[in-house]
Amino acid sequence: MVNEYTSTTVFSQLAAQLVEANATLDATAVVLRMAQDELRHSEICGRVVRAMGGSSQRTRDTRVVAIARHPGCSEEERALRNVIFTTCLSEMNSVAYFVMALERMTDPYVRHVTRSLLADEVLHGRFGFTYLEAWADWLEERPEVRASIGRYLRFAFAVVEREFAAGEHRDAELGRDDESLGVVPVGAAAEVFRETMLGAVVPGLERFDIPAEDAWRRRTLQTG
Ligand SMILES: [Fe+2]
Ligand SMILES: [Fe+2]
Repeated sequence: MVNEYTSTTVFSQLAAQLVEANATLDATAVVLRMAQDELRHSEICGRVVRAMGGSSQRTRDTRVVAIARHPGCSEEERALRNVIFTTCLSEMNSVAYFVMALERMTDPYVRHVTRSLLADEVLHGRFGFTYLEAWADWLEERPEVRASIGRYLRFAFAVVEREFAAGEHRDAELGRDDESLGVVPVGAAAEVFRETMLGAVVPGLERFDIPAEDAWRRRTLQTG
């Protein structure tokens, strides 16, 4: 619930960066739609919390983090970097994670809700590659931007790995209730993350001559 709510603020900020980058109205409209999807998702998740006996009230601070400005980058590259980070990397992982969770969960209500969220997340994951398609000619003429995005990806891959591959629950800690809710244990979360990056995201980015394979191999949390 909280994560979906925070995603709303990520996509609404991203929409502003697309305007700065002079992206098409269509592209900006999709990003705003995604912001609204996430708001709806947080509402749906709130209903699940209530169905499970919770109060769907914030129990921790919802921190709004400003999305990266990438100092020194052009507006166009800044938007491309953040689209790649939020959709090609993060949302693509969400899609794979949701699919895995859906396979594990047995509770019919949670299955129904997860399916409806998954449909949107698939669109979110695909958006980044559609955006790259729209910028393919622009990128093709600018090898220095492709190389710069590749350097950024070393850091970006490490950040998403820290966020998604860690997982939240150890296998041994999972009980029958967790299983019926499809909670994904640590090891499986790490595996689904790696498979998604190597099987879908890296080749998807390489298609635009962005050196993603090299960046994946050299991923590091150290900048500069
Ligand atoms: Fe969502
Ligand atoms: Fe999403």
